[in-house]
Amino acid sequence: MIRASAPGRVNLIGEHTDTTGGLALPMAIQLGTVVTGERGGDRVVLTSDADDEPLDLPLEIGDPATVSPPWARYVAGVVAELRPAAGFTGSVTTDLPVGAGLSSSAALEVAVALALGFDGGPRELALACQRAERRASGVPCGVMDQLASVAGVAGHALLLDCATLDATTVAIPADVEIVAVHSGESRSLATSAYADRRATCAAAERIVGPLRDIVDVARLDEIDDPVVRRRARHVVSENERVRAFAAALQAGDLQVAGDLMAASHASLAEDFEVSTAGLDALVADLSARPAVFGARLTGAGFGGCAVALCRPGAIDLGWRLRPSAGASVAGT
Ligand code: GLA
Repeated sequence: MIRASAPGRVNLIGEHTDTTGGLALPMAIQLGTVVTGERGGDRVVLTSDADDEPLDLPLEIGDPATVSPPWARYVAGVVAELRPAAGFTGSVTTDLPVGAGLSSSAALEVAVALALGFDGGPRELALACQRAERRASGVPCGVMDQLASVAGVAGHALLLDCATLDATTVAIPADVEIVAVHSGESRSLATSAYADRRATCAAAERIVGPLRDIVDVARLDEIDDPVVRRRARHVVSENERVRAFAAALQAGDLQVAGDLMAASHASLAEDFEVSTAGLDALVADLSARPAVFGARLTGAGFGGCAVALCRPGAIDLGWRLRPSAGASVAGT
């Protein structure tokens, strides 16, 4: 019996930076997805406790984006990437909320890849699952979600350099809690807006070069189009906030860290324009509570969750998230 498990992730800061090889600071969480079963045969057959419809896929997969039921697309994406020699029969269990911005799809991809016998290092695993996600969803996503799920370390967040794929651990202080709260809005526009923002950042890079190399936002004055300039300003300033946030956590300076989260949200709302009225209101509500250091939208935006940094017990709703270990597989 094979048992492969992969965590979801929450991103503390560094949003919409991975697609330009920038910095992000997610942590793997205790909520995740487990795939159990046996290898063999020439089909992948899985049931899921999150979906009534099972999947039954051939190893010779066509276009993953067209298979049914919809959750099977992520599995099909992994099968298309890995081209495994043998199939798999088993079940999927998950305690991750689907579509909340906590990377349920990345957790599914990583767990399936390990169950199918992925043979390679952690970076290759994350990259293969990123490609699977792109095939399945058509979204030109970055590598943050899959890398966080693969590389998570208990008690730590990960400072990810999305150009080199280096993951540096940053300890989460014991006297804080990280809470994700759903806005109640599903991430309806996320797909089209995501591709649009990515294209706009690429347009900025054609003018000023790689955004990850820019430290001084004044360099962006070369960009004439005010929308392109604002999108680029978000990315450049967000990379700097990630560095400052990692340093603040290491110094135990929680209010500085919280203020950086607030600045990140403002930049996502005003410069990158991926927030919603509901997310803005939720972030304002959470931030105003006693013993909350800061809050911001987390994930792609246009709905989904906000994340808050606070003293333990300060927020009595949502998910209290613990920094957790990355994916693993056991059995033969
Ligand atoms: C989604 C993508 C990630 C990342 C975030 C935004 O979660 O899958 O690659 O771009 O949005 O930071």
